[in-house]
Formats: sequence, structure tokens, C-alpha cells
Amino acid sequence: MQYIYLDHNATTPLRPEVKETITNSLDLYGNASSYHPLGIKARESIENARSGILAFLGADEGRLIFTSNGSESNNLVLKGLVCEGSICPRHKTARKRPHVITTQIEHPSVINTVSCLNRIGAEVTLLDVDQYGLVDPDEIKRALRPSTVLVSIMHGNNEIGTIQPIGNIGSYLQNEGITFHTDAVQTVGKIPVDVNKLNVDYLSLSGHKINAPKGIGALFIRRIMTLCPLIHGGHQEQNLRAGTENTIGIIAMGKAIELIKLEGETAIQETQRLRDRLYENLSQNLTGVHLNGHPTRRLPGTLNVSFDRIDGAALLEMMAIEGIAASTGSACSTGDSKPSHVLTALGLPPERIRSAIRFSLGYGNTETEIDTAGEKIIQMVSRLRKISPI
Ligand SMILES: Cc1ncc(COP(=O)(O)O)c(C=O)c1O
Repeated sequence: MQYIYLDHNATTPLRPEVKETITNSLDLYGNASSYHPLGIKARESIENARSGILAFLGADEGRLIFTSNGSESNNLVLKGLVCEGSICPRHKTARKRPHVITTQIEHPSVINTVSCLNRIGAEVTLLDVDQYGLVDPDEIKRALRPSTVLVSIMHGNNEIGTIQPIGNIGSYLQNEGITFHTDAVQTVGKIPVDVNKLNVDYLSLSGHKINAPKGIGALFIRRIMTLCPLIHGGHQEQNLRAGTENTIGIIAMGKAIELIKLEGETAIQETQRLRDRLYENLSQNLTGVHLNGHPTRRLPGTLNVSFDRIDGAALLEMMAIEGIAASTGSACSTGDSKPSHVLTALGLPPERIRSAIRFSLGYGNTETEIDTAGEKIIQMVSRLRKISPI
């Protein structure tokens, strides 16, 4: 079946140009640490991708460490800094229990990591958000302690798309000398991301969200700070991530970024136009449609809506039968019967959470697809409401 794919926040299809680059790189088997032509060629390809991605992020200083995905990048900075923070000789007394500040609506790769760190002695503050999912920068200021080793606030939320004021928060934290990380897995390639404008020390990104394959991610690091690696071993990735590099994944991610750079704002604007067209279609032809997340400070492809008197899981199943792929809440939580922690943090009533569907648009979506999907969803919601016991 030909699917109308509206689940780009979960993962994205490989772009044909990236696929071609991968195919052409398959014979590049040299180990990038080897000093013979095959190794040197692999090293050159890795370093080209690294410098291309750093330039795309506006980084005139700092380094990029390749990881296996966004989750690993988040784990590396959180565990790496807390681990160092607790043993740092300069802060032995002040940082006996290192303190981390983050929000209630982070991706599980942050939430579950800080919860693990909390179990082994770190102190954690989980900040509330408002009804749109925005964090209050003043709350961050109030939460700071002498023992704070890291503030980690996501750039764009994967479920509702709300974009945090990272630049403002970063500028304040920079003046205070507090280390700042942002999880930009959902924003890189979707909105402009410049590490200097965002004033961040660390930034996580992931290949499979930007039409590169799964199995490749990266962490931007502004300064050489002591960071305890997750994976110890050889000297790869500047001693921060041991293991022979995923050369093909790195080249593919570099290519995906190159394509995004070439397209500039055009692709972003088109995605946003299609998203808004879908929302207008649904809200004008159905009653009881509610937008979740911020009305304007939102990822261009993300549309999270609740439908009155609808069970989101039932609608999703009908959509799948009709060839429309989307998600309830976050795809990472599929199979988890708990209500979305993000929608819960917004203070939404249970019925609105239960009926929420996340549509996420991206590369390859067309106006015809969006109109077909809209038409089918309107019919399905109407049919479900007719038979709904609610
Ligand atoms: C905001 C955010 N952070 C981190 C991740 C984890 O990225 P990965 O799937 O590459 O581990 C995701 C994936 O959905 C995400 O949306």
C-alpha cells in the first residue's frame, strides 16, 4: 500500500540523494584510524561531513562528536557532565550532589536519564510548562543553585512542536557561567539552528529525523570541557566516543545536511503551508477540533490535534487501514498505555489527551496527499462519532 506518511517526527524516509551517496560509499571500508590510503579516504570523508555540519550549525568554534543517535547524544552530555561534576576536584564540596535542571516535557532520552542520575545521587529539577508547552525563563533563574552543573531544555518538542526561547535562556545562562544544553533533534533542518544565536554549550542532533539513515547522531560541544564518555575504549571522536566510526552513516548525515542547506527556507515554508492547510481543512469541516501546543511558536511540520468524542488509538488504527501514517502522542511511547507526559504537563483534560493525534509533515509530502488525508480523516471522525458511546 502507498502510505501518506505524516509521521516525520518519529522518523523520516531516506532521501534518494542520500541513498545514492550511501551506495557510492559502501566500498569505503577503510578504518578511519588507519594510516594507509583506504583509512585516509575514510578519515577525509568523516572530516568533510563534520565540518559541513558544524558550518551548518553556525559553529565557528567547538567540535562535533558523532554518536549513534539523538538518545546517545543526550545521554552523553547528561551523564558525562554529572559524572564529571561529582568528581571534579575544583568543586568537590560544592558539587557533592550535582544538580541538573530540565523540563517536564523533554524526550524520554532526557527524562529517563535524569531520573537514573537522580537515583544515583544527582539532584534534578523538572520545570513546569504553560498551557502551550512553553517554559518560563524566570523559573530557570529561580531554580539555579551553586551545585547546578547543567541546564538542559529541548529546542522543539517532538509531540506538540512548541519551540522554546533557547536564545534568551542561553544568553542569561552564559552570563551566569552555567553550562547549557539543548536537544535539537526535532529542530535541526526544520527551523534555523545556529549555536551562537542559541547561546548553547551543547546541542544534540539525529540523522534519521532529517532523511539520513538510523544509527547516526551527533553532539555539538562548544568548549573543551571535561566530559566523561559513555563508551570507553580507543581514542575515536576526540576520546569522547570510543569505537570505530560509522563512516557511511556520517557521510549520509553530512549529505542530508548539505541538501537542507541548499534548499534553505523554501522547504520549511512549504511544509508549514501544507500543515496549516491540513489544520484548516479539519477545523473548518469538523466541530470539536482542538490544537495542542503553541499556535505560532511551533515546528513547521507539527500538528497535534484533539477531536472531541474520539478515541485517538481507534482513529489511528482506522487511518492506518486507509493508508495514512501518523501517531498518537510520541511514537517512542507507542505500546506504553500511559497518557502522554507532554500533554499531561500542559494541563489538558484526560479526554483531550486520549483523543490527540500527532501529524508531522516533512520531505516528500504533497498538497494532493494532504487534501486526500484531510478528506479521509473528516469522514473517519464523523463515522466514529456516529457510533461513539462517549
Ligand atoms: C526531541 C527528541 N529528542 C531525542 C530523540 C531521540 O532521537 P533518536 O531516535 O535518534 O535516538 C527524539 C526522537 O524521537 C526526539 O524527538
